[in-house]
Amino acid sequence: CGIIGYIGEKDGLPILLEGLKRLEYRGYDSAGIATINHHGRIDVVRCRGKLKSLEERLVSMPLTGTVGIGHTRWATHGKPSDENAHPHRSGPFVVVHNGIVENFAVLRDRLTDEGFRFDSETDTEVIVKLLESERRKGKSYREAVLDTLRQLRGSYAVVFLNEEEPETLVAARKESPLILGLGEDGTYVASDVPAILSHTRRVVFLDDEDVVFIDRSGFRVEDLHGHVKEVHAKTIDWNPVMAEKAGYKHFMLKEIYEQPRAIVDTFRSVLDLSAFEVFFPEAHLDRELLSKIDRVFLVACGTSFHAALVGKYMLEKLCRVPVEVDLASEFRYRDPILDERCLLLVISQSGETADTRAALVEGVQKGAHCRAIVNVLGSSLARMAQGVIYTHAGPEIGVASTKAFTTQLVALFLLSIYWATKIGTISSESRREALQHLLELPRKMDELLNDGGVIQHWAKRYVHVTDFLYLARGILFPIALEGALKLKEISYIHAEGYAAGEMKHGPIALIDENMPVVVLLRKGELYEKMISNVQEVLARDGQILALVEGAKDPKIGPLELQLEIPETCEWLAPVLFVVPLQLLAYHIAVMRGTDVDQPRNLAKSVTVE
Ligand code: G6P
Repeated sequence: CGIIGYIGEKDGLPILLEGLKRLEYRGYDSAGIATINHHGRIDVVRCRGKLKSLEERLVSMPLTGTVGIGHTRWATHGKPSDENAHPHRSGPFVVVHNGIVENFAVLRDRLTDEGFRFDSETDTEVIVKLLESERRKGKSYREAVLDTLRQLRGSYAVVFLNEEEPETLVAARKESPLILGLGEDGTYVASDVPAILSHTRRVVFLDDEDVVFIDRSGFRVEDLHGHVKEVHAKTIDWNPVMAEKAGYKHFMLKEIYEQPRAIVDTFRSVLDLSAFEVFFPEAHLDRELLSKIDRVFLVACGTSFHAALVGKYMLEKLCRVPVEVDLASEFRYRDPILDERCLLLVISQSGETADTRAALVEGVQKGAHCRAIVNVLGSSLARMAQGVIYTHAGPEIGVASTKAFTTQLVALFLLSIYWATKIGTISSESRREALQHLLELPRKMDELLNDGGVIQHWAKRYVHVTDFLYLARGILFPIALEGALKLKEISYIHAEGYAAGEMKHGPIALIDENMPVVVLLRKGELYEKMISNVQEVLARDGQILALVEGAKDPKIGPLELQLEIPETCEWLAPVLFVVPLQLLAYHIAVMRGTDVDQPRNLAKSVTVE
């Protein structure tokens, strides 16, 4: 989502609207604005849909005042609707919020007991009700804000308005970005630089757990315990286009680097760390149903199909249930055999892909239990399925999918653990161990992302080749397919992913000294078999580029063409192995000068057959 706030000498509305326009790429299912009018009262206008709808509404309900906040939403809790749009109100307070309040259900129950009524399905409304509740206990506004924030688990960037102190804007952040803009004619808060760039380049990047109190004379930053902090403004020299991409050259690169964060967002709302348990309240998959299911169909398109292929390994091994994986465009036309003992799980970033929708319709008609893993709340698939598991990758702009894919893998992993727990095919010890690996995953991914230089070197060396081969076995085989797809999509180099064991049945004929072969090796039962395949390539003068779990291995060829992948469990290895492949495709494409974010002939969301 995008957040903007302003307090100063100028009319607020145009500033807030312009800021929201610059943030619209972050989320666009609903939007809203609140200002303090000339009588010191808060007026709110908000609605479902793109910013244009909000602007239309503002024509008949113009907002006045020099203090205000605005929000453009990317739904996480609660579908896109007028009621769920921000700002949310409680008594004299309104709030806009980015992030996910993990303990919102507990807080909502407590506030309901206190007599509060909730008008939306959002986690955000809890924040503003909690603030009112704290204020009613006789605390000052400042104390009430600090006490509220200290009770929130999860992530937030928030900005509050208060009718009791109309000349103060309060903002805070934890694990969700928020900046302060220091202008000549006022002070700005925003989730992202582009929102304020046309007004000022002097910016304070707030830290986690910073709370800032802003009035017309200046601002004060405190930590969550009320200790005043010194902060320093920086002058940024980004142009507006760079700013939208947070300084990255392309959305795709930004999204690749957002993956550790996206993964945390995906598991944090469904994982109870005290008991090491997984919950999927919206999936509607109880023990009784799961023990009845004797066949699973995973159906998707493109990159989401590759996630489905990985999901097959996880579900079959962890839950001992047979899984079929199909492309939606095949599944829908092959008259699949489905009944009430089948679970159809469709996977989609956008939730709008036409073939995947048709596959779901087919499943519903034939009486299968139909569920969806999707990234976009309120999307068609989310509404059509009988239960949903959300990935929380945030908006993905680059056409070539990256962070949506890795969060799909994490969602499938969590589902497999959940399912295995329900039907008793995993011990609590193994579950704890597996989830422990998940918790360590974002850090390991960061390590890999910091190693990006090696990949750039490889990219330089192979930028002019015409073909690439990707080989792997087992759960990494789909990652070979995904690596090849990424390269094809954005660099237009011909690439094929193959199960390494199949090489001798065809692709080996292609290998000569010009053919780079990317191999993915885990130190598991298939390692020796992969080494044999590597030897076969080397014997024909093929060029091996190896991703190796743990330490490099001289048997795999020159060490400078090997990259170490941090060790993790089998189920999560795909999440790490895909990262260097995304970077390889990206750097080669950049060196070839293609349009990385919008490659020729491709669309982000394919809503036609
Ligand atoms: C398009 C996109 C791909 C995506 C595929 C499936 O082809 O370019 O990146 O993987 O659609 O999209 P979905 O939204 O259903 O995951």
